[in-house]
Amino acid sequence: MNTKQVRDLWKLRKAMETGEAEKLPKHVAIIMDGNGRWARQHRLSVSRGHRQGTETLREIIRHTDDLGIQALSLYAFSTENWNRPPEEVAALMQLILDFFASEIDELNEKNVRILILGDKAGLPEQQRETLTEAERRTEKNTGLHLNIAVNYGSRAELVRAAREIAEMVRRGEIRAEEISEQMISDHLYTAGQPDVDLLIRTSGEMRLSNFLLYQNAYAEFVFPNTLWPDFTVAEYDRCLAEFGRRDRRFGARTDPSEEGKA
Ligand code: FPP
Repeated sequence: MNTKQVRDLWKLRKAMETGEAEKLPKHVAIIMDGNGRWARQHRLSVSRGHRQGTETLREIIRHTDDLGIQALSLYAFSTENWNRPPEEVAALMQLILDFFASEIDELNEKNVRILILGDKAGLPEQQRETLTEAERRTEKNTGLHLNIAVNYGSRAELVRAAREIAEMVRRGEIRAEEISEQMISDHLYTAGQPDVDLLIRTSGEMRLSNFLLYQNAYAEFVFPNTLWPDFTVAEYDRCLAEFGRRDRRFGARTDPSEEGKA
């Protein structure tokens, strides 16, 4: 960490102590977009872009943990990403292995809980085993929830939840009228975690791309133009500060002077 980063961290910690902490999101979700464009700009292969993106990912995870944010969800590989050229898919699969090989010890020491969002059964054996092992090793940890979406699609996640709940109804454990919003949350991969407060998508694209549709219901969205490999901790802090300035009403009216003006 350089001097400026230490100073910024100190300022954020101070803000947390003085009650501004409520303005920090509990759960941040990030769509790490722009690796391909970054690679083209630098006349490098797309795979090299993803590798550079992994460097950003390490910094952002570290900073999220330092800030004491409860949950961080990262979109690493969607169910649609299988349609990319085979060499790009292979590079992403390799990066996933490399990432866990190099980071798992430190993450575990930092008390981070790793959870894979998505269908691990649809992954190659080596990736499935590595990811399952990372979850197993960190499952008793009590720190940051680090959710990594791999072979993930939010609609598929909702279908999975609907099937599980339908089975409970079929077995007579609950009645259909008892199905609640909470029950659906409890059957998502992110069960037990707070909803997403802040969604960041880099590279200027403004889409959800089938990421955490249910969990993002009341999230604030920030869309920095920066390509993911160029995204820095300082820019992340600016996104967090932007979140702190947003007036979140969750559909209610919070300004009494506005009452009766409908
Ligand atoms: C989108 O950029 C990014 C991805 C599809 C993959 C993101 C993956 C990583 C950053 C690294 C792998 C993850 C782990 C956990 C090690 P894009 O290729 O769609 O960019 P473009 O829109 O500019 O082409």
